[in-house]
Amino acid sequence: MRWIHAAGRGLLVLVVVLTGYVASGARADEGSAGGRGPLTLATAGDLTGYLGSVLEGWNRTHPDEKVTLVELPDSADETHAQMTTDLRAGERSRFDVLNIDVSWTSEFAAHGWIRPLARDRFPLDTFLPPVVDTATYDEQLYAVPYVTNAGLLLYRRDILTKEGVDPPRTWAELEKQAKTIAPKYGLDGYAGQFLPYEGLTVNAAEAVYSAGGSILGDEGERVTVNSMAARDGIDFLARGVREGWIPKRALTYKEEESKQAFEDGRLLFLRNWPYAYVGASAKGSPVSGKIGAVPLPGPDGPGTSVLGGSNLAVSTHTEHPDSAARLLAYLSGERVQRQVLTRGALPPVRADLYEDPELVREFPYLPTLRASVLTAAPRPKSPRYDQVSLVVQAVVHDAMAGRDTPEAAVRRLARELAAVSSR
Ligand code: GLC
Repeated sequence: MRWIHAAGRGLLVLVVVLTGYVASGARADEGSAGGRGPLTLATAGDLTGYLGSVLEGWNRTHPDEKVTLVELPDSADETHAQMTTDLRAGERSRFDVLNIDVSWTSEFAAHGWIRPLARDRFPLDTFLPPVVDTATYDEQLYAVPYVTNAGLLLYRRDILTKEGVDPPRTWAELEKQAKTIAPKYGLDGYAGQFLPYEGLTVNAAEAVYSAGGSILGDEGERVTVNSMAARDGIDFLARGVREGWIPKRALTYKEEESKQAFEDGRLLFLRNWPYAYVGASAKGSPVSGKIGAVPLPGPDGPGTSVLGGSNLAVSTHTEHPDSAARLLAYLSGERVQRQVLTRGALPPVRADLYEDPELVREFPYLPTLRASVLTAAPRPKSPRYDQVSLVVQAVVHDAMAGRDTPEAAVRRLARELAAVSSR
């Protein structure tokens, strides 16, 4: 019988160890010293190659809590696939901290992959107001805002000045200039991110929102896409390809390919995130000194950008939740937020940086960007956002490639989104 006692004692030890583990996890949110140690941070491709240097700052001062950066692919969808595959492995998951797209917070929280966080550990009241909402689900904070983003229209200032016209404020002006001015200079007219992936969902949502339409309501439970406004939004993009002022090759563009086309001097207008403006303005870029940025146009005046960016979340299964929370506070603090802009060319989440005279001198688009972020519309908050996005990408790509009319595309969106929402 002695082996039974031994086994019983083993079980008791196991229970104590497990309880200790859970308790140390819970304490992470209360700021105790439990759960400290090294971390891995997974992120989508670091397009401006700055994150390593930011993490070096932490690693130097936190030798027992060093962070190892795991860089996943550039495309949001591929990063999503790799992160979710990893998180589904539960305790065998490799990632402690995840730099997740703002549109994934609900899905990751609803699946229990990321931990709720204590609001008072993070400087939330220093952030631009819309960004905090992207980090909450069910009224609970599940991530800490890190980078925000809003789409801008980049244009060739040198060419528009020569032609004596202002940059477009409406779709009609954009279309006219793209059609009539671009060919004179041997350029393509307009491009965005039109490959079927998250970037196309963003571009399609911007067109639909700018026309006054919507895609889903009530946190993803109601399909609202069946409207004339949504049709007009999709028609704007489909018409561009049909009429040639959006080049067919733009149907394969993600952020980087479209930025390259603009930077190489092949495009008159580009919808992209601000990092592309910084890249194209930099010394050595063929269009340096020749470009400008304005808010995205809409049917009768400025349009609506989708709110982009990323939030930092902590994996449910991390063994070092306290270090993870401390890292989140560090990365959302003033010093690193300044570096996010100055080294990473990415829009910080801290509000005061947008009014810092020195930064505004160096990054003249900051006031336009601030206005665009404050009026940007979030993507639908759905625990099935990944499926919602797949539907939008596929349908809008078919419409842009001329395989579906905008009317048929809207009907198909309504039907396929209803199928996602009803499951
Ligand atoms: C940018 C945005 C992100 C968006 C992605 C689409 O990374 O910050 O929110 O989902 O582009 O490609």
